[in-house]
Amino acid sequence: AQRQCIDATLAPFLLPLGILREVMDKMRAELEYGLKRETQANATVKMLPTYVCGTPDGTEKGKFLALDLGGTNFRVLLVKIKSGRRRSVQMYNKIFAIPLEIMQGTGEELFDHIVTCISDFLDYMGIKGARLPLGFTFSFPCKQTSLDAGILLNWTKGFKATDCEGEDVVYLLREGIKRREEFDLDVVAVVNDTVGTMMTCAYEDPNCEIGLIVGTGSNACYMEEMRNIEMVDGEQGRMCVNTEWGAFGDNGCLDDIRTIYDKAVDDFSLNAGKQRYEKMISGMYLGEIVRNILIDFTKRGFLFRGQISETLKTRHIFETKFLSQIESDRLALLQVRTILQQLGLNSTCDDSIIVKTVCGAVSRRAAQLCGAGMAAIVDKIRENRGLEHLEITVGVDGTLYKLHPHFSRIMHQTVKDLAPNCDVTFLLSEDGSGKGAALITAVGCRLREAEQ
Ligand code: BG6
Ligand code: GLC
Repeated sequence: AQRQCIDATLAPFLLPLGILREVMDKMRAELEYGLKRETQANATVKMLPTYVCGTPDGTEKGKFLALDLGGTNFRVLLVKIKSGRRRSVQMYNKIFAIPLEIMQGTGEELFDHIVTCISDFLDYMGIKGARLPLGFTFSFPCKQTSLDAGILLNWTKGFKATDCEGEDVVYLLREGIKRREEFDLDVVAVVNDTVGTMMTCAYEDPNCEIGLIVGTGSNACYMEEMRNIEMVDGEQGRMCVNTEWGAFGDNGCLDDIRTIYDKAVDDFSLNAGKQRYEKMISGMYLGEIVRNILIDFTKRGFLFRGQISETLKTRHIFETKFLSQIESDRLALLQVRTILQQLGLNSTCDDSIIVKTVCGAVSRRAAQLCGAGMAAIVDKIRENRGLEHLEITVGVDGTLYKLHPHFSRIMHQTVKDLAPNCDVTFLLSEDGSGKGAALITAVGCRLREAEQ
């Protein structure tokens, strides 16, 4: 009887192909709303122009700084690019912590902190005097009017610094650099992490025209035809569009598949009601969905002898790495118990089986939903180009995608099932998005010189 109750509770997490096809169709409709002038203002999937109009062609060269803010790690990088027949990219980077008080303090404190880290890095590399061009990977929704201006629409994930929403983050960075009066930098481009990732991968594979992140948050970008981007003048060629698909469902269109656990996670998040699709997919939230289910099961007496421990009440205990370990097939159940033990959860063998089942249900649904979104994008590109059959590569990054033992396989399969006319290769970014940001900066510098 207990087993039946557990199965019944997890049943809404099993999405048959028919439902996934509906999700794909809804995503497709939202992509169109975001591109069209009349519907754009109310669109949930914002389809933000990036002013990146092509992928790398090997002529990029120079020495650049890159910042990478918004994923698990904040990084400062020095990227040296050589062009020509012996083209190559050399990178040096340093990871810095961003304390919670800074993520959720004032905007000035956040940007002062960023500039302090840059200063530290420049000292470390011994390049403080050089006024290098900089590409700023800023992994949040920004309304861009050019390559080097991006107004933060709203924070997502764990950030909530004041006085930044509605401001140009390039301006905020430049002001931070001025306040410090210690060095000068030339901020050339602001880049979403999806775009940086696409460019990083496109440097190796010219067929890469889509970027995907499945990490702390989830998002995708792709090369759209200029004639379809009604918010930008010009009809020729293509421009990369940052979909900000994390906000898919914020108008209620996914409510039929959201569970009470999704709602609980959403209600207690920093941005309730926002980023509903992202909250069903990405690393910052999957563990929270699992925890909410486990609390419910414990209350109903199915788990942990009915005792809700302080640990289980602690938010964000199930980080991506734990979920990934728990679901690893190589792991014996005894080891699952050991992991739970490490988290402070005393479990029996039966408990660990249930926990593993819950994790599996939540992450499988995440991978399938993500696949449905990706299927919508590849099929749109195929139609854009009037092709019967499309071959395309997706550049991917993010800890969930990288660490989870089943996510990538299930996601790929879903794309195959839903978009059978597309042959999609997934290419893992080995270098993060900083390399891509530097490539974009290189192009930005060249264009600027050509204008002068
Ligand atoms: C990194 C990219 O490798 O992946 C970042 O360089 C990106 O720009 C990140 O934000 C996403 O993954 P996560 O798991 O760190 O959020
Ligand atoms: C969030 C951000 C988006 C970013 C994604 C992945 O969804 O809004 O800009 O690309 O996380 O980091």
